Amino acid sequence: MERLDKRLAATGRWSRKEARELIRAGRVSVDGAPCRAPEAKLDEDAPVWVDGAAIPAHGPVYLMLHKPAGVVSSTDEPGERTVLDLLGEEYRKIGLFPAGRLDKDTEGLLLLTNDGPLAHRLLSPKSHVDKVYYMEVDGALDGDDVLAARAGMVLGDGTICLPADMELLSRNSAHITLREGKYHQVKRMLASRGKPVTYLKRVRFGPLELDEKLDKGEWRPLTREEQAAVCRH
Ligand code: URA
Repeated sequence: MERLDKRLAATGRWSRKEARELIRAGRVSVDGAPCRAPEAKLDEDAPVWVDGAAIPAHGPVYLMLHKPAGVVSSTDEPGERTVLDLLGEEYRKIGLFPAGRLDKDTEGLLLLTNDGPLAHRLLSPKSHVDKVYYMEVDGALDGDDVLAARAGMVLGDGTICLPADMELLSRNSAHITLREGKYHQVKRMLASRGKPVTYLKRVRFGPLELDEKLDKGEWRPLTREEQAAVCRH
């Protein structure tokens, strides 16, 4: 049995507060009868409607998380705080996982979803989804770094990177846009230039831009427009 307000919030379309308001406003029915009690308990498969439209028991959910440093991008890792630990417990049960990974010390935009086919498309090496990072380095960035990134870097172990765009912001900070996602890629690219990364934050993932209103550790459902844009991939 689960609470009605939790069931609605678990769709990612409403917060718990919004769900309670919808229910109290008489816009929600359960098993064909209006229900104004947010705390009403229902069976996992009890049909729920909002404004006459059926709500799938657990439809696809898409959340934007502002990942803080110190949290790992996995669903379960003994001894570590995971990105799922940042969400409410109603999200634990619906198979959410991060579409892609950020290192434990990297901050920024992470898409969490239970839409496996979409995640697969976004992460496929063939799909070349743009990922933009803000980075700070130990050392002075210059035009040679920009040219090296644009040419496609060859890392110390022979790994060949696709061309990347680098926009210098200050002596030691830049935006870098990758179209692939190799392991520790930004850090390895800059290490190969002798300018180790000291701070890294993802600010864009495909069509999604990190919402500046989200503090570190906060999340929100994607808007309808964001969801449509990301699902076009
Ligand atoms: N590149 C890195 O080095 N780390 C990340 O977390 C993401 C991209």
